Amino acid sequence: MTFTISDAAYGTDTPAAKQAMFADLRSQLQGLLAGESDLIANTANFSSLVFNTMPGLNWAGFYFLRGDELVLGPFQGKPACIRIKKGRGVCGTTVVEGKSIVVQDVHAFPGHIACDVNSRSELVVPVFSNAQIIGVFDLDSPLPGRFDEVDAQGIESLVRMLESTIV
Ligand code: SME
Repeated sequence: MTFTISDAAYGTDTPAAKQAMFADLRSQLQGLLAGESDLIANTANFSSLVFNTMPGLNWAGFYFLRGDELVLGPFQGKPACIRIKKGRGVCGTTVVEGKSIVVQDVHAFPGHIACDVNSRSELVVPVFSNAQIIGVFDLDSPLPGRFDEVDAQGIESLVRMLESTIV
């Protein structure tokens, strides 16, 4: 499979450029998810698509709730922390709050869990099934302030597509 989107094709400097990138991402994701309901396969391809399309990332992947802990799922990037307690770090806080969190500077987020010392900013989006939170999708960047509300809404739109495949 060949993806036509490259980092060089998009700037991250304007909301319009980001929205165009997310429109292309939705179209590519629709093709990847079509007719497939396996959560591991779909979250693996989801992570790869986002990691290889959005410029300026060093990690993109899922954590799924197992009891009161998040456990590492399919991802792209360096090996990461395996278990995160509910309420801990940006990921565990997202579970408690049930909404996306944009962190402009991870050093300024109390309790941030540093899986990769190079990470400087982060976006975490909750994943729901039957109105219950089942996990999160986490993006890390080595660039300070890499993520904004356009990114949060764009990733949320992709996560909503993924959720529609969960049976
Ligand atoms: N930084 C996250 C931990 C997960 S890694 O970034 C992959 C957190 O604070 O929850």
